[in-house]
Amino acid sequence: MSITSIIEKYDQTQHIDTKDVIEILRCSPADEPSLYIEADKIRAQHMGNEIYLRGIVEFSNYCRKNCYYCGIQRTNSSVHRYRMTPEEIVAACKKIEAAGQTTVVLQSGEDPYYSTELFGAILAEIKKHTSLAITVSVGERDEATYAYWKEKGMDRYLLRFETSDEKLFKYCHPDDTLSVRLSCIHTLQKLGVQTGSGFLIGLPGETYEQLAADILFCTHLDLDMIGIGPFIPHGETPFGSTQNPFPKEVYFKTVALLRLLNKDAHIPSTTAFDAIDPQGRNLLLERGCNVFMPNATPKQYRKDYLLYPGKPCVDESADDCSSCVKLRVLGLGRTIGTGPGHSVKKSKIAEDTK
Ligand code: 5AD
Ligand code: FES
Repeated sequence: MSITSIIEKYDQTQHIDTKDVIEILRCSPADEPSLYIEADKIRAQHMGNEIYLRGIVEFSNYCRKNCYYCGIQRTNSSVHRYRMTPEEIVAACKKIEAAGQTTVVLQSGEDPYYSTELFGAILAEIKKHTSLAITVSVGERDEATYAYWKEKGMDRYLLRFETSDEKLFKYCHPDDTLSVRLSCIHTLQKLGVQTGSGFLIGLPGETYEQLAADILFCTHLDLDMIGIGPFIPHGETPFGSTQNPFPKEVYFKTVALLRLLNKDAHIPSTTAFDAIDPQGRNLLLERGCNVFMPNATPKQYRKDYLLYPGKPCVDESADDCSSCVKLRVLGLGRTIGTGPGHSVKKSKIAEDTK
């Protein structure tokens, strides 16, 4: 079946099977534009022309875990470790707000130094001094902690499942199980926190079948946000000499497919795409994405938050990213999102119950 007929069939039935997904992932270069055009069209219809900016503050690179792909895993002794103080974090948030952005994403390794109480106090401080929406991305914690943080001002949470294949998950994560990861995601959804998740494209040995399963599984989670990116081998990790099994175009097709299947999810154009193609993030904004996350980590820490090599924006100052991003958005003929940019799904539910 041609790509156009698979898309048409999906449009009519709202159903797609693994075979069709694989066919799209493996389609010829000549067929790619029709997929990208469709993804861009659906993005415009359902999410509009605004690109939401969410400044990301990578506030600690300490991590208690050893995910085999990740540059800041605990056994990488060549990483210079840092932690930002609550004051530094709040100051970075104020800068994000001053640059006209409406959300901060607070990300770190899994660092127990930021206890439930300490991190709760940081969230409350941010809410006191800014009107930013807050997204948190600090890994697996228990339900009581997630609930407490919600009370203190956490609006959203990002926690990737990385792969939906239990065996591959275990192969990459010596400290984790897929079932605990998924139960964290479900807990966040149950608590009413806007929840984002996603996966790595092309973990070592991954097959097209597994990638298709990730796309369908991610869709089945019915997420508010979907963040995915290609696996990029980091020299100082156990996966340093492995290769991503897929060609570059497959990464882009995966995002476009996710837009087709998740019409009203926020889908960020993630940083790792700029590491594999200098135009990566810009291209994605025209292939289904509607969110951009400028790096707002203070300059002196950026080079130490290296999850994978070739990460962009490591040498610039926070101001550089926020002005660069405005030019990017305008260059694409789009506008910068105003308002908090909350989940579209959640606001629909609120509308329906009025
Ligand atoms: N290549 C690409 N992405 C990576 N991440 C961690 N290590 C790598 C890597 N080597 C991603 C994981 C994690 C997110 C914060 O960064 O998917 O969830
Ligand atoms: Fe960071 Fe352009 S987005 S410099």
